[in-house]
Amino acid sequence: MKILITGGAGYIGSHTIIELSKIPGFEIISADNFINSTPETFSRIKKITGREIKNYPVDLTDFNAAKLIFSENPDLAGIIHFAALKAVGESVKNPVLYFRNNLNSLVNLLGLSSEKKINYFIFSSSCTVYGNIRNLPVSETTPLLKTESPYGFTKLAGERLIEDFCLSNPLFNAIVLRYFNPVGAHISGTIGELPINAPNNLVPIITQTAAGIQKKMFVHGTDYPTRDGTCIRDYVHVSDIAKAHVLALQHLIENNGNANFEIFNLGKGLGVSVLEVIAAFEKISGMKLNYEIGPRRAGDVDAIYSDSSKAEKILGWKPLAGLEEMMGSAWKWQKVLSGI
Ligand code: NAD
Ligand code: WQD
Repeated sequence: MKILITGGAGYIGSHTIIELSKIPGFEIISADNFINSTPETFSRIKKITGREIKNYPVDLTDFNAAKLIFSENPDLAGIIHFAALKAVGESVKNPVLYFRNNLNSLVNLLGLSSEKKINYFIFSSSCTVYGNIRNLPVSETTPLLKTESPYGFTKLAGERLIEDFCLSNPLFNAIVLRYFNPVGAHISGTIGELPINAPNNLVPIITQTAAGIQKKMFVHGTDYPTRDGTCIRDYVHVSDIAKAHVLALQHLIENNGNANFEIFNLGKGLGVSVLEVIAAFEKISGMKLNYEIGPRRAGDVDAIYSDSSKAEKILGWKPLAGLEEMMGSAWKWQKVLSGI
């Protein structure tokens, strides 16, 4: 069965190619224009899997370019759609860029899916759709509050578009996966997150600081109403997230026609503070991280973590890696990148 992975050179897409490659019977192609990644990722994937992945370096917002993928692959059966821009701050500065990139590419893929009778679709969403939520843990039935950024809104609108598309097309089967905080890297140290610009997320900032790329880092606020005053998040290993896509795809195929639109949270279900993440990093690396306490970062919620029991019950998904394993793999990858 041939599957198109959009954003296959990206962080989560590349880890998903690796996990899906382990399952017999799937042929994988990718579409990634490298706006936030590099072609080298495919050589790294080959080192791990032995597989050459055909990538179409097209901008998926370009309908004709996207259409070519479908005409060249008439046997395409499903799509895992990762390709999107994801920097919250950048989306606040340039909402048009985010709406255009994230929504036009989705509109094109759904239009082409309907034309070409492609019936399996998995969409990368985010816990950001819950907004500044207070009821913890959050489950898929928790009412959504206002999204805090244009990026978040593109995910919300994407979910809604897919839901409406499923209603209008009962043969189309879609799963929306709401990731919490994916971190870490493949166990081999051969592949991982590749921040092209200065990162905004905690874990790459920690590893870049430890590697000396940044002199020091800041903990954004210690006056939150949490156990140590720093924000609480739900960190989950990227390979566990990748495995959830394989299970979701298998679920779509097995349940063809039943409940054709479903949403799943993907988090470990554990709230971890910023200082706890730093402590885990210091423990696994044996290093003292150069950090200072800074002011709060605008837009941060105090605490959010997932109730992922639906994914466990229906998909059989259990995230296995613990915090130290997440930090250990992130550090191993950073050392490879930095030649340490
Ligand atoms: P990433 O930036 O590493 O990967 C996305 C890939 O898509 C990149 O390789 C980029 O070049 C490609 N791309 C973007 N726009 C494209 C376009 N118009 N045409 C073709 N290719 C395009 O990001 P990621 O962390 O792997 O995230 C994957 C998905 O998961 C995204 O949809 C993101 O919003 C979502 N998500 C990520 C996180 C996270 O913390 N990483 C959390 C929740 C949701
Ligand atoms: C985690 C915690 C920071 C950097 C973001 C997106 C969200 C989703 C996941 C895509 C926060 C603190 C960070 C630093 C720090 N992505 N921090 N010093 O904000 O939970 O979520 O990524 O969908 O949409 O918003 O993740 O890694 O940025 O921050 O103290 O230098 O680390 O304040 O409490 P966040 P993050």
